[in-house]
Amino acid sequence: MRNIVILISGTGSNMQAIAAAAERDQWPERFGARVAAVISNRPEAKGLAWAREHGLETQVVDHRAYATREAFDEALARVIDGYEQPQEPALVVLAGFMRILTPGFVERYAGRLLNIHPSLLPAFPGLHTHQRAIAAGCRVAGATVHEVTAELDHGPILEQAAVPVLPCDTPEQLAARVLSQEHRIYPQAIAQWLRRHRAVAA
Ligand code: GRF
Repeated sequence: MRNIVILISGTGSNMQAIAAAAERDQWPERFGARVAAVISNRPEAKGLAWAREHGLETQVVDHRAYATREAFDEALARVIDGYEQPQEPALVVLAGFMRILTPGFVERYAGRLLNIHPSLLPAFPGLHTHQRAIAAGCRVAGATVHEVTAELDHGPILEQAAVPVLPCDTPEQLAARVLSQEHRIYPQAIAQWLRRHRAVAA
């Protein structure tokens, strides 16, 4: 069975959508994969409570306890690696995980590290994507699921969804419209990834 490890920093609504899809669409039976743990770099992340209430294992690796980015990433990797299976490396899913990862970390999980970004990449990598899309006069915005590479918010695109930007949109209104699409495309992209990398021993 392949373990899926979801990394969050806040609300975890994408994590919820992924966990719900895994159950509804029977990922263990169909893909030999299960959501094994939710890990947060913030002990106060709201998503942790939801995960616990829904029977998911949770872990906290508080970035404030580490002097360097490298030390934090090393500690995080140790926790993730606790979910490795001999024949099945874990799939690591960043879902609103608000930390920049070191190249060493990205390299370690190359090909099995996914992220969702709230813009139509390659437009607007980084923060404040909705505000920037509105300021630029974009008529469409959206979200992108991609494989993580060393460069922030780059990497092969696995899935995208576009939404209209309406004339009087605030960044919050646009964010909500994009987020509802994130909840659709992230589980879909993960299911596609799992289908392509079907577990050997389910
Ligand atoms: C999402 O828009 C995600 O794309 C971005 O941060 C937000 C996290 O939302 N990186 P949630 O924690 O999944 O609710």
